[in-house]
Amino acid sequence: MTRWYRERKREHFYRAAKKEGYRSRAAYKLKQIQNRFHVIRKGDVVIDFGAAPGGWSQVAREIIGEKGLVVGIDLQPIKPIKGAIFIVGDITKKETIEKIKEKIGNKKVDVIISDMSPNISGNYSLDHANSIWLAENALDFAKKFLKNNGNFICKVFEGELLKEFLNKAKADFEVVKLHSPPASRKSSSEIYVIAKIFKKTEGGAEEIEQSDNG
Ligand SMILES: C[S@@+](CC[C@H](N)C(=O)[O-])C[C@H]1O[C@@H](n2cnc3c(N)ncnc32)[C@H](O)[C@@H]1O
Repeated sequence: MTRWYRERKREHFYRAAKKEGYRSRAAYKLKQIQNRFHVIRKGDVVIDFGAAPGGWSQVAREIIGEKGLVVGIDLQPIKPIKGAIFIVGDITKKETIEKIKEKIGNKKVDVIISDMSPNISGNYSLDHANSIWLAENALDFAKKFLKNNGNFICKVFEGELLKEFLNKAKADFEVVKLHSPPASRKSSSEIYVIAKIFKKTEGGAEEIEQSDNG
């Protein structure tokens, strides 16, 4: 793909996002993943890691409809979206996990989506390792809170640690695939792990306690 074509494509999704009222071009990546893999369903409870500025949460909200719930978490604050709850926090920190637990109360988590990116240092090995670290935190959360047969999507930067991460995901999900949606830049090293049908083991998932704040 030529540089000219890449830039046209980027511009295309930027314009489309502006026109259709999405907060990010990234929204189209989730739409494309959803069209192909059907990870989110109407009425689902969806946890969105790295949700700012809110494009994926908007798309998730459209799919789940009025009866579903999106809980989005990011280091950055996010402007409100009807039917979504946002938490400002670092998902690698225990206190953030506690806040998420409070918000979901006793609801079952159907899907976890993560588009988190680490701060880019420019040192590829470091950026890759940081991306895998974020992905591992998202996967650990999924293993604790996802309901049986739930789904998980996670962005990672490709590199030598990816295989081990995939093996960890394969241990608990029936289907694990790598996918690069057309809206991802071809020059980008990002790729999405699509993990479907969580096999919840006895005692493997943390019970979500009823919360007064949920
Ligand atoms: C590419 S953006 C997400 C775009 C979003 N999916 C959308 O469509 O609007 C990546 C986000 O990951 C967030 N992030 C990075 N590390 C994080 C962490 N430890 N905890 C929570 N969010 C994190 C960043 O703040 C950033 O907003």
